[in-house]
Amino acid sequence: MVGDPALSASRTAPLRFNLNSFLLALSTMLDFVESDLLGVASNHGRRVAYITARLIERAGLSDAEIFDAVALALLHDNGLTEALLTSSALPVNVERMRHAENLTAHCEIGEHNLAAFPFLTEVRGAIKHHHEQYDGQGFFGLAGEDIPLAARIIGFADYVDLLFDFSTPDQANREKIADAVAGMRSQAFSPRNCDLFDEIAAKPAFWLDLQDDFIDQALKERVPDIWQELSWDRILEISRVFSRIVDCKSQFTQRHSSGLEEKAARMAEFYQFDHETNIKVRIAASLHDIGKLAIPNSILDKPDRLTPFEFRKMQEHTYYTRRCLERIEGFADITEWAANHHERLDGSGYPLGLTAGRLDFNSRLMACLDIYQALTEERPYRRSLPHREAMAILRPQAEDGLLEKGIVADLDQVFAPPA
Ligand SMILES: [Fe+2]
Ligand SMILES: [Fe+2]
Ligand SMILES: [Fe+2]
Ligand SMILES: [Fe+2]
Repeated sequence: MVGDPALSASRTAPLRFNLNSFLLALSTMLDFVESDLLGVASNHGRRVAYITARLIERAGLSDAEIFDAVALALLHDNGLTEALLTSSALPVNVERMRHAENLTAHCEIGEHNLAAFPFLTEVRGAIKHHHEQYDGQGFFGLAGEDIPLAARIIGFADYVDLLFDFSTPDQANREKIADAVAGMRSQAFSPRNCDLFDEIAAKPAFWLDLQDDFIDQALKERVPDIWQELSWDRILEISRVFSRIVDCKSQFTQRHSSGLEEKAARMAEFYQFDHETNIKVRIAASLHDIGKLAIPNSILDKPDRLTPFEFRKMQEHTYYTRRCLERIEGFADITEWAANHHERLDGSGYPLGLTAGRLDFNSRLMACLDIYQALTEERPYRRSLPHREAMAILRPQAEDGLLEKGIVADLDQVFAPPA
């Protein structure tokens, strides 16, 4: 049983980590956010990253600079959900979503969120200034060469992908886009970026690479293969950026992932997991609902009871969690613990309907903790339940063979308020 305290070995070796393959896995989820909030086509982040890579390699920069620029491009709007959640400047309706990118806060929050990232080069200002315009008409009024180079290039890639439809690589569409880019020369875009774009856009492969069927492979080919040794603690810090994005996506669950991570840490201490297992359980907790980024806000934010159709849609989130995390090297057990949190020992859970024999100790722990966390957190439509009432809901589920009895009893011991 993975994570069983009796069996856990003392392993603290760092992970051989490729930030961009990690981000490519998670960017499928980030792209769902942009599709849902801004109504842009799928694969937006990948196309922005691909165009960025092509421009920046053409600009003669180093592999490390290309690598970082791709990472930043994949993450350029990481501050969007938090800016939207914390802003009162826009009315609460669907239109508000559409204007989320007009909030300058998403640039500042996005920049701040990435402080813990293991970038290889100096990247300050790249996210903060991705909405600057060459003529100084952007969010913070920087102009020309004062805009950091990566911000100029990511901003260019972002803007052209938002403005134009790259899904039709025919000649007429290519010419339309090339003309429009030329029309914004020295206004939104730097002359240098327009020239570089002309060069790369002259090749048919550029347009074909941007198609949904090929963008993944095309982007991977453009990213230099750079690996770093990172501690699991550092990977936990990076993972928290994504749990914040998830928590901020819905006003109803603002502290859910971070709260679950805290409780997972308490249980990991209680079970005396070795350091690596302790941190991996916390990473799994912080990313367990990453698949919710693929669920529309119309469902996540619905204050009333979900219809059966909406409920089935909501249930898909753990499928997406699995599909996202399983792509990350070294995350095999984290994927299981995170993606199994709605499975039940009797096979009545989802999305796979796994039974006891397929659910290891930490998967069972995550299932119990997720329910406990949800019940004890404040929701706009109900108060948080005190420990006693939460346990009164958990215990019968353990009695009925859905949850691990021993873990439910341990939760009662660890989280009971002092008498
Ligand atoms: Fe943006
Ligand atoms: Fe964008
Ligand atoms: Fe969940
Ligand atoms: Fe959850």
